[in-house]
Amino acid sequence: MIVCVCRRVSDREIARHAHAGMSFDEIQFELGVATQCGRCENCARDVVAQCSASGAVAHIQNATQPIQLANNILESNAWPSSPFCSAA
Ligand code: FES
Repeated sequence: MIVCVCRRVSDREIARHAHAGMSFDEIQFELGVATQCGRCENCARDVVAQCSASGAVAHIQNATQPIQLANNILESNAWPSSPFCSAA
């Protein structure tokens, strides 16, 4: 959906920039949204606010691999096993 008719900026384009971590002011500078008649400013700000509010949750929900934490250092795969450190 086109949010800014004057600059032909869509909500998807605004959302993409907001999800990249840009603020409204940065998006306005980058895309030119709400820089002519200004009628779209509230709608554009709403899109940015919704993306900012849902960004962290969406990132967690989109994780495909669960994070497996080791219970102690012996279970960790982060350290290569060494013949000098094997348990007797
Ligand atoms: S509709 Fe966005 S500046 Fe006019």
